[in-house]
Amino acid sequence: AGTYVLVVVSNRLPVDYEEAEDGSVNWRTSPGGLVTALEPLMRSSHGAWVGWPGVADRDFEPFENDGISLVPVRLNEADIEDYYEGFSNDTLWPLYHDVIAPPSFHRETWEAYIAVNRRFAAAAAAVAAPGATVWVHDYQLQLVPRMLREARPDLVIGFFNHIPFPPYGIFAQLPWRKQILHGLLGADVIGFQRLADAGNFSQAVRRLYGYPTRGVVIDVPIGETDQGGQNGESRRVIAKHFPISIDSAGYEELARRPDIQARARQIREDLGNPKTLMLGVDRLDYTKGIGHRIKAFGELLADGRLSVEDVTLVQVASPSRERVSTYMALRDEIELAVGRLNGDFSTISHTAISYHHHSYPREEMVAMYLAADVMLVTALRDGMNLVAKEYVAARFDFDGVLVLSEFAGAADELKQAILINPHDIDGTKDAIVRAVEMPKRERTRRMRSLRRKVAENDVAAWSDSFLRALTGGAAVPAGIS
Ligand code: G6P
Repeated sequence: AGTYVLVVVSNRLPVDYEEAEDGSVNWRTSPGGLVTALEPLMRSSHGAWVGWPGVADRDFEPFENDGISLVPVRLNEADIEDYYEGFSNDTLWPLYHDVIAPPSFHRETWEAYIAVNRRFAAAAAAVAAPGATVWVHDYQLQLVPRMLREARPDLVIGFFNHIPFPPYGIFAQLPWRKQILHGLLGADVIGFQRLADAGNFSQAVRRLYGYPTRGVVIDVPIGETDQGGQNGESRRVIAKHFPISIDSAGYEELARRPDIQARARQIREDLGNPKTLMLGVDRLDYTKGIGHRIKAFGELLADGRLSVEDVTLVQVASPSRERVSTYMALRDEIELAVGRLNGDFSTISHTAISYHHHSYPREEMVAMYLAADVMLVTALRDGMNLVAKEYVAARFDFDGVLVLSEFAGAADELKQAILINPHDIDGTKDAIVRAVEMPKRERTRRMRSLRRKVAENDVAAWSDSFLRALTGGAAVPAGIS
């Protein structure tokens, strides 16, 4: 056993290793909402964070970064292909996101998934103190809770799924569906984003294992394997929703900085001071509905309901999973659509879509949020979507309009956004026009209510409530300041 009383385990560490051509080394913030959400807890708790440093075939000793203890797990090139790009991002990711893209099912990548999950479980077991709390994260590591429980029955084990959990009819496609449930049921508390996700999970447990569920409680027989097993005593497992959030005060603080406000003004000026600046910020992922958004915008320009003289769309599409074929095809599709739309509608002085295949530091993102009159979040399916919450947190001026897909988890809380079904292009177009034309008084009223929601349930409230459910009361495990 190790010495840490709190251990977080996720596929990625909060920083990625990066080596420039001149050989200089840089640890760069990792992409995605998971890292955004967990960083504040890890800074305040002195726990250890077990994860992959984002580079193949390299061993690193545990190290400190920005006040967080990092425990790197090695992934070989073959692990990246089979466990990360294959089973995690070509099987589970599309399957859990409503099969928007067809999932692949390969027995070899499943074997790699088991092997790598075992490696993460061993790394966590090695650093966890006796009786420690271990909190495992996301779809890449669903077998880890069970593996940990078998190796270290002394541990308190939590799992949080950052992405949706699919309805039974979709989950049932997975050839290894029982093994996945068995892996997850090794945890004491299994957390989900939405009420519906927790419901889908409990239903899958009832259908595939027949275990009784009472509200959020599932009685799991002790000693039962994924092949079935003896009856007898049972363990209580809680499956419940804990909607994730952001450090909202931190975002507001950035937004109040004079240099960031100056940068926001500069962005508008550089774009020719459009009457309306619309913004989209996404990982370049087929779940985000970027194509639907571009289609709606293009039709509005074609119909003459919006004009390129008045409205510019800034689209940030940060690079993601670039060796997975669905992502390569998506990039081609989106860049073709952007190029076409600009070719059809841009003028020498006005660009319809300002497109950026980059990721930016948080300061620049906040400046963009402040600059944007309308924020477009049109995901076809999204666990939560923290970009929506970041936009709201940044708008301390109570201005700006959020257009939000009802298929993003955030829609359960952010009811004062303009909610849309992104598949309904006409409805989306109407919502965009409504956002562009919304009177100031209504913008303020809506933003006030949205901000209250985000401030009330910030990321500290999220991790507190999860850890309380896990440890039966303590927000931070004993022994931690
Ligand atoms: C989502 C997932 C995370 C993942 C992130 C970035 O937020 O829930 O688990 O880390 O996307 O994706 P990547 O594949 O680059 O880690």
